[in-house]
Amino acid sequence: PSINRILNLFEMEDVAKSVISNKAWAYYSSASDEEITRVENARAFSRFFFNARVMRAVGDCDPTTTVLGYKSAIPVFVSGAALAKLGHPLGEANITKGAGLSNIIQMVSSNASLSYAQIAASRVRPSQPLFFQLYKHKDDKTAEARIREAEQLGYNAIFLTVDAIVPGNRERDVRAGWDQEDVENVAEQGQEKTGADLPKKRDDMEELERDVDVKGTAGALIANDDTNMTWKKTIPWLRSKTKLPIVIKGIQCVDDAVLAAEAGCDGILISNHGGRQLEYSMPSMEVLYRLRRQHPEVFAKMEVYIDGGARRGSDVLKALCLGATAVGMGRPFLYAQSAYGAAGVVKIIRILQREIVMGMQLLGARTVKDLVPEMVERVDWQPI
Ligand code: FNR
Repeated sequence: PSINRILNLFEMEDVAKSVISNKAWAYYSSASDEEITRVENARAFSRFFFNARVMRAVGDCDPTTTVLGYKSAIPVFVSGAALAKLGHPLGEANITKGAGLSNIIQMVSSNASLSYAQIAASRVRPSQPLFFQLYKHKDDKTAEARIREAEQLGYNAIFLTVDAIVPGNRERDVRAGWDQEDVENVAEQGQEKTGADLPKKRDDMEELERDVDVKGTAGALIANDDTNMTWKKTIPWLRSKTKLPIVIKGIQCVDDAVLAAEAGCDGILISNHGGRQLEYSMPSMEVLYRLRRQHPEVFAKMEVYIDGGARRGSDVLKALCLGATAVGMGRPFLYAQSAYGAAGVVKIIRILQREIVMGMQLLGARTVKDLVPEMVERVDWQPI
């Protein structure tokens, strides 16, 4: 359909699904096990209702904010997600261009499908900020070289991802990675085998010996990560290697948010990797809610962001009411660039901007500072 017929981020996702390969769809959309955390990330937002204020002068509504000191047109940023080229030949550059034209900030994945230099060169102006998502390599020297490269290319912050030290179990992704012949074989064997015959083929044991890789796309990407990071060792190490702001991506509970603040991080991104890592990890919005109630002081020490399941302006506003500085989105940007290239990226930012401004006005908030905890309430029933 014409890009101008897209009304919301869900419709953009539908278009992407219809144009990308099965493998790309499986990689982008999948999550761990039964995908409970992926689904609940989104559903969690629906348990929060607004206490809207009226009779406030909101005619001159201003949805802009700053993230780590960098201006952003709306309180939304791109959460780094790997392999944008699976969906569109220009890949991550589409997102860089779209984000630059719309004045929001892109976090670039360590596993981007273009080089960090190509992405930096796709900025629409030299001052366009870019954040760098780091998977820390188990070898410190290799990790340091990557940080150095990001610095030299002008990236403006390091988001250290800590929730993916080993790959999660994404079965739809694994299955899509097997070639068609394998899939057919499995299906056939499944039909032949009934009750007592199972397993009757002499070579099933030999076949079992070949059973090594069930990791899918993610397994190949994360193989060399440092599985021994600690607060005490890794944060001071990172501080000694870079002057850039350090944000910890993948905080999944209140206690770790507190530790990150104590470790002197510049920010945290409450995230469970879009439900792709630990299944039954708490939905990000619930973690933010608990953090706000139990440790409101944390929000004064560092910036707090969340990602996972946010798809509407109202989702963003709820998180901001609870103290988040901005909300990240991963899949929506992959889908948008897959469907319409950079134009798709601009389009979803426009949609979000419209939803955010309208929501702020109806909620009685002229600026993002007017979004306060009293404006949002968690209900103990799950709507619909
Ligand atoms: C991701 N994510 C991710 N995170 C990260 O730190 N490094 C990475 O390389 C990737 N790669 C990646 C690929 C794909 C296909 C997805 C969907 C996600 C996680 C990402 O940054 C973010 O946390 C989630 O995508 C947020 O959830 P939503 O917005 O996709 O629901």
